[in-house]
Amino acid sequence: MTMKPAIYPGFFDPITNGHLSILHRALEIFEKVIVAILVNPHKIPLFSVEERIDMIRESVNSGSNIEIDTFDGLLVDYAVKRKSNVVVRGLRALSDFEYEFQMSLMNRKLNRNVQSIFLMTDYQWFYTSSTIIKEAASFGGNVSDLVPGIVDRKLKEKFGYSKNA
Ligand code: PNS
Repeated sequence: MTMKPAIYPGFFDPITNGHLSILHRALEIFEKVIVAILVNPHKIPLFSVEERIDMIRESVNSGSNIEIDTFDGLLVDYAVKRKSNVVVRGLRALSDFEYEFQMSLMNRKLNRNVQSIFLMTDYQWFYTSSTIIKEAASFGGNVSDLVPGIVDRKLKEKFGYSKNA
């Protein structure tokens, strides 16, 4: 039953320790996880798709059980294309619940064969998100313990802080 890959979708702009925690825990359940970056022409990201792929690649141990890919359009269509029937999502605070619930019901309406599975975020990443980390980093805040080293360096470069700061 778990031989099909699971899809772990998101913007990953950029990947955080919270994402990595969910990814590694998903790998305890599924043989393979595809980290699927949504390429959305309507949303201007901080990092290009190539940068996001590089940061994810550098943050995870290389191995055949993790694949990094991009998709556009509907997530359920992408899941079918990748011969998967499971979408993994992380849940943080209660505030995530409504959005995730809505999205999983819409995905279910679009394709009943694709299941959504939720993993609770570890407590140390409970308050973090790519958005709030970018906000803090943009003003020079220290986010080094919230993101992989490569992301911390790229954020400092992006926001014009010294590489060694
Ligand atoms: O990083 P995020 O914001 O948590 O990721 C959200 C994402 C990419 C998982 C979601 O926006 C998505 O799946 N978008 C693709 C379009 C789609 O299928 N939407 C859901 C049904 S309308």
